[in-house]
Amino acid sequence: MARIPKAFVAGYPIYHSLSPKIHRYWLNFYRISGSYDSIEVTTEDFPSFIHSLKELGFAGGNVTLPHKEQAYALVKKCDEVANYIGAINTLWFDNGGILHGSNTDAYGFVCNLDDFSPGWEKETALVIGAGGASRAVLFSLKERGYQQIILINRTRARADRLARHFGQQIVAADWQYINDHIGEADLIVNTTSIGIENHNHNAKEQESVINFSMAKSDVVVTDIVYTPLMTPFLNQAQKAGLKIVDGIGMLFHQATLGFERWFGIKPQVTKALRSQILTTEMKEKET
Ligand code: ATR
Repeated sequence: MARIPKAFVAGYPIYHSLSPKIHRYWLNFYRISGSYDSIEVTTEDFPSFIHSLKELGFAGGNVTLPHKEQAYALVKKCDEVANYIGAINTLWFDNGGILHGSNTDAYGFVCNLDDFSPGWEKETALVIGAGGASRAVLFSLKERGYQQIILINRTRARADRLARHFGQQIVAADWQYINDHIGEADLIVNTTSIGIENHNHNAKEQESVINFSMAKSDVVVTDIVYTPLMTPFLNQAQKAGLKIVDGIGMLFHQATLGFERWFGIKPQVTKALRSQILTTEMKEKET
């Protein structure tokens, strides 16, 4: 009898992850017998968890914070995008039982902009933040032909490091001069954790430091944070009359590639999926 494929998302903490809801929606929609569960794994336990995946009968799974870099170090067969970013979020076994890793965040980022702002690829981007998420965004922007990417981070040294890694299109700049660069950008991306609900930021930090009144009128503003969907950053851009793209579509699209590996079908990111996930989220918050 054929085994029912099973997959997971591992992180610490993991209770907040929307991935089980997304994958179960597709399992149900495509009438696939399979499972997708969240597993809380500490950093110390993560290597033994990865080494026991085959024994546990998984077809593969996702890894999320804080394990993406550790997963990259543990999985020997990583693809080009993963090697470039230095972190993975998707794992699968090939037919020979070898574990592979990829980073599908960059794919998710571009698909979300393709969906909600077709023609977004232009000349100059401003990227705020130089952590793990920023690396996937920089990779995407380079892939889609951005000529100049201004990278601004609170800790300048991290921005300099990424600029060296990603090459000459990336120009690091100082945090305090952020508003001097707003007017140059065709795309502005927040990759920092400022604005994440319940994250340890004070009210002052939640207010975006950006003065959107300097922005080009046709700039596209996007945030990779999706909890809340309308971050203070996006709210402010919207109030300034600018085009905004929220971050949840990136989560949906990055998930499609893993689903295809484990369950054999490339699922569609639809309005129905979006509304189902957002509605159940809101209901859970109310209770
Ligand atoms: P991730 O892997 O999710 O990107 P990370 O590596 O911890 O997470 O990076 C978080 C990003 O948010 C960093 O760019 C961080 O800036 P620093 O490198 O200076 O720490 C940024 N960040 C977090 N809190 C911030 C704050 N209060 N103000 C400005 N930037 C902040």
